[in-house]
Amino acid sequence: MKLIRVKDYDDMSRKVANIISAQVILKPNSVLGLATGTTPIGAYKQLIDWYHKGDVDFAEVSTYNLDEYRGLTGDDPQSYRYFMNTQFFDHIDIDKANTHVPDGSNPDIEEACSSYDKMVKDAGYVDLQLLGIGRNGHIGFNEPADAFSKGTQCVDLTESTIEANSRLFDDPKDVPRQAYTMGVQTIMNARMIVVAATGEDKAQAVHDMVFGAVTPQCPASILQLHTNCVVVADDAALSLCPEQ
Ligand code: PGA
Repeated sequence: MKLIRVKDYDDMSRKVANIISAQVILKPNSVLGLATGTTPIGAYKQLIDWYHKGDVDFAEVSTYNLDEYRGLTGDDPQSYRYFMNTQFFDHIDIDKANTHVPDGSNPDIEEACSSYDKMVKDAGYVDLQLLGIGRNGHIGFNEPADAFSKGTQCVDLTESTIEANSRLFDDPKDVPRQAYTMGVQTIMNARMIVVAATGEDKAQAVHDMVFGAVTPQCPASILQLHTNCVVVADDAALSLCPEQ
């Protein structure tokens, strides 16, 4: 694992955007694995800016997002499909047909998961996977568990995740209790992984990811075994880690 220490959220956003941009410049038909949440918003903004300046374009890129709330349709403003469209895809030249998010509106769990796995596999897996990290060490919606997940699965969200996400909903009761998420094994199949983290509330999770035991109780810890994983984190998120 490589650690890149950054000053703050803006610095992290620029560096993450730089890495994604380099990937797309080097391989215009890259398969990107993308994330939602507050962490990547700044990186998406930066990429949009560079796109408008003509520095990078996404015409041949395809994307696979990590997760989606079960029960929400893509036009629901709380859905991750809606987030991706409004925060990123609507502002660049990507072909929306090449952007993929698990289908939260599909009530058939088996079908929703297996069809997403097949799409990612048929795409040859992900070139560059962008990840945030949950306060409990989750990646995607792979919550602490007794075993690492493999393919796409439907998960019951933990109370801590529901609480963390409730800030984005008018009424906390509206936070969905289940989600479809890409599995840990699929994430590990990505050829490069970039984890972004800022803020003190991520410090324990970042410490456990980088320096803790590799355990499904901290799903992100498995990234220690990936051969090309970069963590871009600010001082606050690294505050529990030994100085490098
Ligand atoms: P955040 O979420 O970017 O909103 O902090 C990260 C995550 O839960 O994976």
